[in-house]
Amino acid sequence: MSEHLKRVFAEKKEQVSDQCNFVIDEGNHTDLALSYRINRMSISFIRRPILAKRFLAHRAFVTFLTAGFPTRDATVPLMMALEAGGADIIELGVPFSDPIADGPTIQRANTIAIENGVHYADCLEYTRQARKLGLKVPVIFMGYYNPLIAYGEEKAVQDAREAGANGYIIVDLPPEEAIKFRNICQDSGMSYVPLIAPSTSIDRVKFLTGIADSFIYVVSKMGVTGSSAGVAISASLPELVARIRAFTPVPLAVGFGVDNRTHFEFVTSAGSDAVVVGSKIIKLVLDNPKIEKSTKLVEEFCREITLHGQNPPPLGRKNGTAPSAAERPNGVNGTEKVEPVLPIPEGETARPELEVNQPGKLPSRFGLFGGAYVPESLVDCLNEIEAAHAEAIKDPEFWKEFEDMFGYINRPSQLYLAERLTEEMGGAKIWLKREDLNHTGSHKINNAVGQILLAKRLGKKRIIAETGAGQHGVATATVCAKFGLQCDVYMGAEDVRRQELNVFRIKMLGGNVIPVTSGTQTLKDAVNEAMREWVTRLEDTHYLIGSAIGPHPFPTIVRDFQRVIGREIKSQMQEKCGKLPDAVVACVGGGSNAIGTFYDFIEDEGVRLIGVEAGGHGVDTDLHSATLTKGVIGVVHGASSYIIQSKEGQLVPTHSISAGLDYNSVGPEHSHLKYTGRAEYIVADDEQALKAFKMVTQLEGIIPALESSHGLWGGMQLAKTLPKDKDVVICLSGNGAKDVAEVLLTLKDKKWADKLDWHVAQ
Ligand SMILES: Cc1ncc(COP(=O)(O)O)c(C=O)c1O
Repeated sequence: MSEHLKRVFAEKKEQVSDQCNFVIDEGNHTDLALSYRINRMSISFIRRPILAKRFLAHRAFVTFLTAGFPTRDATVPLMMALEAGGADIIELGVPFSDPIADGPTIQRANTIAIENGVHYADCLEYTRQARKLGLKVPVIFMGYYNPLIAYGEEKAVQDAREAGANGYIIVDLPPEEAIKFRNICQDSGMSYVPLIAPSTSIDRVKFLTGIADSFIYVVSKMGVTGSSAGVAISASLPELVARIRAFTPVPLAVGFGVDNRTHFEFVTSAGSDAVVVGSKIIKLVLDNPKIEKSTKLVEEFCREITLHGQNPPPLGRKNGTAPSAAERPNGVNGTEKVEPVLPIPEGETARPELEVNQPGKLPSRFGLFGGAYVPESLVDCLNEIEAAHAEAIKDPEFWKEFEDMFGYINRPSQLYLAERLTEEMGGAKIWLKREDLNHTGSHKINNAVGQILLAKRLGKKRIIAETGAGQHGVATATVCAKFGLQCDVYMGAEDVRRQELNVFRIKMLGGNVIPVTSGTQTLKDAVNEAMREWVTRLEDTHYLIGSAIGPHPFPTIVRDFQRVIGREIKSQMQEKCGKLPDAVVACVGGGSNAIGTFYDFIEDEGVRLIGVEAGGHGVDTDLHSATLTKGVIGVVHGASSYIIQSKEGQLVPTHSISAGLDYNSVGPEHSHLKYTGRAEYIVADDEQALKAFKMVTQLEGIIPALESSHGLWGGMQLAKTLPKDKDVVICLSGNGAKDVAEVLLTLKDKKWADKLDWHVAQ
């Protein structure tokens, strides 16, 4: 027998002994049998309070609390207060900087906890301390995947088990992506609780109920977490619960929006076994941050919800004694027959089952990277978009529609030989791919046109988008004006300030700009907010994502609409020089102009693919956006990719003089190209980008966007090192008119004017 399993078995046995009357005999089991028993114990430990309440015709109460909020030392007393008030299960929220599935209240609690320096390791410590103080109820860690990856998945699960936690709800880790993690959970006797949302299709309900062990978390409404004081909880809840019930006897815990006893009763009358309350508890604590007061109020609130004191106490907790066999409800006896636990399919054999509702045929990953790490509410919607895109790209009619728009976009864009720049650098010929001449002034319009055609196919009436520099916002508002769709653009408040002119352009075009004031108030926060909003309006809204980022299928969709850049470069070079270029170069923010430039050359091994990232104040400082150069592999905004983050897996502020490159992650296809060595990624810092900006302006009479200036710097340095018979093509992704005000401000600063030897603003 494996030592690990023996240890886990002993621990579990100790934990359940005063809660469950298990017939436990270590015996001489095989590992598989032992592991099965461990799971039986663990799962029963979590299920038991729910089933015990069911036996008494009551419903269990599941509470949520963000760890480390409002202060580091409040968590353990609050956990004890929750239990004292009648909580049957505690979900302990692991803080994350970018909680895309959470509303403002829990988001705020996350921000405060992170400001308090609270991370995964602290959650373990709180659980340990609470257990020492006698906390009996199961503790489930609830949060996002990235902090677990940063901690190390295996170690995270083992340490959680040792600390006394019992399972996980990971909001952005749907089971399709969680095969490895579920395996680790199974080996450590931890539960993996799946979520089901109102949008979950029947096929997926079948699949998710099939893997559920202790209970299923049912999201009662579409959208982010948040209490619904004064608002009716989803009226279709009974129907949703019945739909799930048809497939499983596993207990259902319903959450999202439960605020008071009336909600609690509504939810229980809808047929759920347990009710989850989160935001209301967080709000109570936010409004009453002093520990003495918050613990008292939280306990009182729990008592009100559960009518604690009037109902018989949960079985097995009276004087610490276990219930007699006669008292024991069905299914809580350690000897009862239970359904198979955690049937984790192995390797490839898992695919048919997992692909039950994945009609699209596009690969969801680029090697190790990509995937769709999203809240359950989004899964079926992404499947729908994937299927629509897969169908569209096979349909010549669709491409005809796209190409019919080329006159509007101003395609093909020119491939222009930059003669004076070439002469100045003294090496290879420098060609500029003039995406700056596109309608609206950048490459963003290619993707905006493609996606709005897709949205039309899907019958959507409203478009939302995120934007950094504002170029994608302008492109989106433009196509919305042309096609008559409503347009709402999310933009970090800091970017709204930096890109005032584009904000005004979006508004003139009839779009709304919604400033995002959470987090660092830049592009990453705009993506978070757009995703949060999208979930509430899936029926009529398409999220027109602006770069090759986000969950599958977005990186593929954006690339498919941007690859026109590389395709044109290829034929234009053939026409002008009768050969392929020796290198193609592009700036990389999220990576859409770069992947569009690279894609058609990936198979041409003689063509170097060079991405230039934003070095900000320098890659040896904390203020840069050089994701591929300095980042680590993690999961954010729905995809696995390289990320700039803290060692605990929290996203940290990035910096670039160009708003459009100021982003913590990067498109997963670039991560793959870097990982495999097919593409090279280099860095240009703020000063180098400004130097390139000045040179191209003054030598070619072209004012480039600050984003593109990074690519220009990289391409110019490369050209310098190559002989004159070589050809370097640089994607000039955008026009610099939008940046003139920012450059003016910069050049008013004498230090910068001297550095660049450019005294036009003084
Ligand atoms: C002109 C321009 N180039 C490049 C970018 C960076 O985006 P991506 O890396 O997706 O091409 C932006 C983003 O706003 C931009 O406006």
